[in-house]
Amino acid sequence: MNTGDSTKPLIEVRGLKKSFGDRQILKGIDIDVYPEETLVLLGGSGSGKSVLTKHMVGLMSPNEGSVKFEGEEISELSERKLAPIRKKMGIMFQNGALFDSMTVGQNIAFPLLEDGIKDEALITEKVKEALRIVNLKGEEDKMPSDLSGGMRKRVALARAIVDHPSVVIYDEPHAGLDPITSDVIDHLIKRLERDLKITNIIITHELRSAFRIATRIAFLQNGEIYWTGTPKEMQESTDPVLASFLSGTSDQGSWEQADYPTPH
Ligand SMILES: Nc1ncnc2c1ncn2[C@@H]1O[C@H](COP(=O)(O)OP(=O)(O)O)[C@@H](O)[C@H]1O
Ligand SMILES: [Mg+2]
Repeated sequence: MNTGDSTKPLIEVRGLKKSFGDRQILKGIDIDVYPEETLVLLGGSGSGKSVLTKHMVGLMSPNEGSVKFEGEEISELSERKLAPIRKKMGIMFQNGALFDSMTVGQNIAFPLLEDGIKDEALITEKVKEALRIVNLKGEEDKMPSDLSGGMRKRVALARAIVDHPSVVIYDEPHAGLDPITSDVIDHLIKRLERDLKITNIIITHELRSAFRIATRIAFLQNGEIYWTGTPKEMQESTDPVLASFLSGTSDQGSWEQADYPTPH
């Protein structure tokens, strides 16, 4: 785990507060994300996990507090100034929506076109490489409707990494997947961390996956980061709030089953 003093956080969130109307969702979040870690965000439904990650990529502005990316304050940046920073962030949104009228290749190329890349040979090459990384080599011309749920997730992942981001945010990458397909996604996430030195931030409800892939887990509760630690520390914790959360969401793949080998 990268918590040594010499390692500067990639993302630093301090005192982050966010309300919608009179409902305060984030009440003062402090969290650091370190280079090349896989940070899993856990928390009940509606606890603000998606809202927090949207602040980390500059898609939402806080009411109070600070979000720094590589030491630069991003919470108040204009879209224009944010653009080069966003290029370093890949996002796999909740429900991983693909454009159904576009081919797999066109879907993956989309962020490149948005970034103003016009060199078609380069785009073709990058799309090909991204598909290779997610083990979908040669599937450029398929339509999303021809793909299984797991393959669609992998296409969404290919789109998130096509422009070589340094951090990838995954909002519920396991939702709707069976355990075997979830394992494939987990394997890819760890491969990105290990081979491409990508920092992963993952929101999930799948504890089995969380314990397998996390370098560190952060637990969001009542608008604050209630707890952070390693998967092992979480499993060994006697904190009643954690225990209650873990037992409440352990209907699939309970935490007793979490002791899976790290995927190779
Ligand atoms: N753009 C928005 N406008 C109003 N309310 C929002 C908005 N985005 C999220 N919320 C509310 O904030 C709360 C936290 O949402 P979210 O971060 O999506 O939860 P989760 O932890 O399940 O990802 C929810 O009650 C949600 O309805
Ligand atoms: Mg969410």
